[in-house]
This record gives sequence, C-alpha cells and structure tokens, in this order.
Amino acid sequence: MSDEEKLIAAARQAREYAHAPFSEFHVGAAVRTKSGRTFGGCNVENASYGLTICAERVAIFKAISEGEREFEAIAVVTDADDLTPPCGACRQIIWEFCGDVPVILANLKGKVERENSSKLLPRPFDSSNL
Ligand code: THU
Repeated sequence: MSDEEKLIAAARQAREYAHAPFSEFHVGAAVRTKSGRTFGGCNVENASYGLTICAERVAIFKAISEGEREFEAIAVVTDADDLTPPCGACRQIIWEFCGDVPVILANLKGKVERENSSKLLPRPFDSSNL
C-alpha cells in the first residue's frame, strides 16, 4: 500500500465515527506528519449547527494537541460521487498548520483526486501578513 493509499484508508476509517445526525453527510479525514504519524478525524455536528466541526479540523487539531507541527499530506473521504473539497474554514486551517501540502480527495468507490493547498487557498492571509 502506498503512503497515499494508507492515508485514504485512515480517513475512511475515521469516517466510520462521523457524528452527523443533522446533515447525514459523513466525512473522514487523516493527516500524515513528517514524523510518520497519522491522525484521523471525523465531522462532529451539534444541535447548535454553527458549533459543528469538520473532519479536517478534527484531524489537524488532534495532531497539534499531540505535539505535531509538521505535516506532509491530508486526505478527505466521503461517499459523494463529486469529491468533497475542504470548506473555506478548513482551507485556512490546513494552510496555517500544514502549509503547501497535497490535499487528497477520495470517495468510497475508489475515486481519487489531488489538489495542493496553495491552489485551494490562493493569496492566503497568514502570519506573514501580521
Ligand atoms: N464537512 C466536513 O467535515 N468536511 C468538509 O470538507 C465539508 C463539510 C462536514 C460539516 C458538516 O458536518 C457536514 O459535512 C455537512 O456540511
């Protein structure tokens, strides 16, 4: 299994735990650190909808909270035929913590697409603007 396939498998596994009773849209994500660790995350919804957190941010924040600061890639898995790209908030978080990394989009049927985070978030606001 390639590193990419392993990351997709981890995102797929994380998706199993999605808590999405409102949208019923189940999302899994996984980030790989430069140290070789993988952290998965799922979306976690809330009756107060705005408190919902996306799978990508859960995965990244889990890694950050375990002391990781350098990342190689992130994968996102859903059941959608039209692959699911990260939302705007997640693009900002991916850029802030992961920099320019491959964002691997996949679905349960095995469709895979890749886009770099710098392309998903052109002209980002970040610490260089402060
Ligand atoms: N969602 C994610 O977890 N990641 C994405 O990339 C897109 C959206 C979640 C948020 C919410 O729980 C559900 O999908 C529908 O928007």
